Amino acid sequence: MASSSPSDPNAAELDALRRPLRGRRLLSWTLLLAALATLALVPWWLSNSAAERQASAAAGDALRMTAVSAEDIQAHRTAHAWDRVWDAGPLDSAHSALSLDCRACHSEPFARVRDEDCTACHLTVTTHGGPSPPIAGDPAPRCATCHREHQGAQGLALQNIAQSGPACVDCHAELAARKPELGLLDVRDFGDAHPEFAVRVAGDGGALRKLRLDAEPAIEPTGLKFPHDVHLKAGIDGPEGPQTLACGSCHRATEDALGFEPVRFETDCESCHALTLETSLARRSVPHGSVDDALSMIREFYSFAANNTDPRRAEAVPGAVQRPGATDAADARFVGRPGDALALARIEATDLFEKRACAVCHTVTRVAENGPPGSPGGDLPQYRIDPVAPVHPWMPGARFSHAAHVQTECSACHAAATSTDASEVLMPGIAGCRDCHAGAVAEPTQVRSDCGLCHDYHPAHAALQEADVLAGRPVPTEAQ
Ligand code: HEC
Ligand code: HEC
Ligand code: HEC
Ligand code: HEC
Ligand code: HEC
Ligand code: HEC
Ligand code: HEC
Ligand code: HEC
Ligand code: HEC
Ligand code: HEC
Repeated sequence: MASSSPSDPNAAELDALRRPLRGRRLLSWTLLLAALATLALVPWWLSNSAAERQASAAAGDALRMTAVSAEDIQAHRTAHAWDRVWDAGPLDSAHSALSLDCRACHSEPFARVRDEDCTACHLTVTTHGGPSPPIAGDPAPRCATCHREHQGAQGLALQNIAQSGPACVDCHAELAARKPELGLLDVRDFGDAHPEFAVRVAGDGGALRKLRLDAEPAIEPTGLKFPHDVHLKAGIDGPEGPQTLACGSCHRATEDALGFEPVRFETDCESCHALTLETSLARRSVPHGSVDDALSMIREFYSFAANNTDPRRAEAVPGAVQRPGATDAADARFVGRPGDALALARIEATDLFEKRACAVCHTVTRVAENGPPGSPGGDLPQYRIDPVAPVHPWMPGARFSHAAHVQTECSACHAAATSTDASEVLMPGIAGCRDCHAGAVAEPTQVRSDCGLCHDYHPAHAALQEADVLAGRPVPTEAQ
């Protein structure tokens, strides 16, 4: 090492540092104590004053939606004016009213934010994975691990859709081995380590069951006959001649545009599949949806016709087109036959239920029993209509928004145009999503997709209970 010479600038500096401090040490102490006093002791003392306690309670009350007066707020502002010196960055807009009440979240000084501070206000936040802790001895992460405050006005909302990585994958990367009884597969990243989707389909007795799209044929017995392909052909017969249906003819978006209104006979089928009484009477149809109402209407119609002179003849439209199962032969039953009302009603009921109308769309079974006592249709043949599977969630474990995909053709995700039977499940698998959705790292032609883009973490209680029913677990009651 070169020894220092008097002309060496480093040596001169060393020398200066070795000289006595004189007033500098005192100055440092004075400044340090002043800083402590202004930045810590004064705010601390003020925050502990009685005025503050009252005021901060009021700020909390404001967010808890209890009454707060203007004086409360003013007292609060004054008492907390000094807190700002600790400002760690702007709070989320949802919490901005707490910018003067740091202790709402930091109830203990010099400690990490406690979950109890959050749940004091967020009483209804549910535990992920069910009412009981997901994995015994494996506590859920702290609220503040996933919800970082002081990140700006939209901070929390932006974080929610970007929840990913350790916050979720710490548990989900090895869940299959650690909790095999859940039947869940491991997940690490949407891009290349996320299982094929599962859908819920109606099973025996109406309960939903989980069906993995890659594990078994995607079939759901729906109870309804409906071939998409027949109806999506160009130029099919409509009431006013050939017409071409689009998906939107039957699937009308809900108000929030996330999904679709249920398909209904009255709005979506009746214009072409009218339940006309006799094919020649275009304006007389039976009501839809109840076997007994339909039979009663038939019975009453023929009783009336038998006792009156042909009010119907005027309405008859010769050769009126009757879609599916239509017979163009003029209706010999009705025209010009004297009225054995019961016999005519029987013939008509059998025809309507078993051939012309109901059986086109439903599985119709003739049953031996009599109709409801006292009902006009009670003495006609009786029928059972197999239940139609009610509208149900397909992928309750994830969030999906049709509104976010309006630019994409329906057919990119749903193979409806080639579907020959309503029992075919038309839900998309994961491969199509990956054309546009990358994992936690964006790709040049794909959007970045963290877990939070598609999944909630705090499911609503209703969804939880449904999940419990699906998994065959006991559903907790209110009291539990
Ligand atoms: C809505 C709750 C909430 C309120 C109100 C709040 N904070 Fe925080 N603060 C947090 C969370 C969450 C963290 C993250 C710390 C952790 O992981 O425990 C944090 C962290 C901090 C940190 C540590 C630095 C950092 O960014 O991690 C400081 C300093 C801080 N807050 C000061 C304040 C001050 C001063 C106020 C009042 C103006 C305040 N906080 C109000 C929730 C809050
Ligand atoms: C004094 C009451 C209060 C406290 C304490 C509080 N919050 Fe909130 N928080 C609210 C209110 C009010 C809203 C807005 C209404 C809502 O979304 O529930 C809100 C909204 C939120 C949101 C939704 C934000 C958005 O834009 O989607 C999150 C996430 C949140 N709080 C997390 C936390 C966490 C984590 C803590 C603890 C560090 C906490 N809160 C402490 C009252 C509070
Ligand atoms: C593993 C990450 C994670 C943890 C831990 C977590 N959250 Fe969340 N939180 C989320 C995600 C993701 C969302 C957005 C989706 C949703 O609503 O479930 C969210 C949404 C919220 C919301 C706004 C929506 C709502 O349900 O009202 C609040 C409030 C909230 N969390 C509070 C809390 C509180 C309080 C805790 C601690 C008891 C907590 N969170 C723990 C990830 C987490
Ligand atoms: C502490 C461990 C833990 C963390 C952290 C965690 N999970 Fe889970 N998660 C579970 C467990 C356990 C279940 C199974 C719950 C059940 O079915 O009873 C589950 C269930 C799920 C399911 C439902 C699967 C299904 O179809 O039944 C989804 C989706 C999910 N988690 C996504 C997430 C996301 C997104 C995050 C991060 C924001 C996350 N999880 C963080 C443990 C965790
Ligand atoms: C004439 C009316 C009609 C038209 C037009 C129509 N659908 Fe449907 N769609 C239905 C009916 C009825 C059901 C319910 C069938 C059932 O119970 O499974 C259905 C069910 C569906 C389902 C959910 C059922 C499943 O099993 O996955 C999807 C997805 C769907 N249609 C997509 C489409 C698309 C995409 C188009 C356009 C290419 C289209 N539909 C055109 C009547 C229609
Ligand atoms: C625009 C008119 C139109 C609408 C609306 C319509 N259909 Fe059809 N449907 C037809 C025509 C035409 C046929 C006969 C097609 C053929 O045989 O080639 C038919 C045939 C059928 C068949 C028998 C298919 C077969 O393979 O024999 C069923 C079942 C059916 N439709 C159900 C429905 C249901 C359910 C709805 C309402 C969700 C509906 N249709 C809406 C015109 C329509
Ligand atoms: C063109 C097809 C079509 C014809 C013809 C038809 N239905 Fe339906 N039916 C439907 C559709 C679609 C639904 C489910 C949506 C709704 O309720 O509107 C349904 C639902 C029903 C239901 C309710 C089933 C349940 O599980 O809740 C009954 C009952 C019913 N129909 C009876 C009849 C009877 C009786 C006839 C004959 C008089 C008939 N339907 C003719 C299409 C048809
Ligand atoms: C682009 C949307 C999307 C993204 C991003 C995504 N998922 Fe999923 N995930 C789904 C859909 C859709 C399902 C099927 C939902 C169902 O079963 O109800 C699913 C199913 C799951 C399941 C159930 C698995 C099983 O065995 O049935 C878990 C757990 C899960 N996801 C966790 C995650 C985690 C953790 C991440 C982040 C690493 C993530 N997901 C990212 C859409 C997504
Ligand atoms: C990017 C893929 C994608 C596109 C594009 C898409 N869907 Fe879907 N669709 C889905 C997924 C995923 C679900 C399951 C959502 C769930 O149940 O959580 C679904 C569910 C449905 C359902 C059954 C659920 C319900 O709300 O009744 C119908 C019907 C449907 N889609 C029709 C359509 C029609 C019509 C279009 C075109 C206007 C369309 N979809 C475009 C992915 C898509
Ligand atoms: C043609 C490209 C494309 C396809 C295919 C596609 N997505 Fe998307 N999706 C997008 C884009 C672009 C966004 C907007 C991303 C954003 O806002 O960060 C988006 C957004 C989403 C969102 C967030 C919606 C919101 O507003 O909350 C979900 C959830 C989602 N996609 C799920 C899916 C699923 C599940 C599939 C497969 C069934 C799918 N996507 C297929 C392009 C696509």
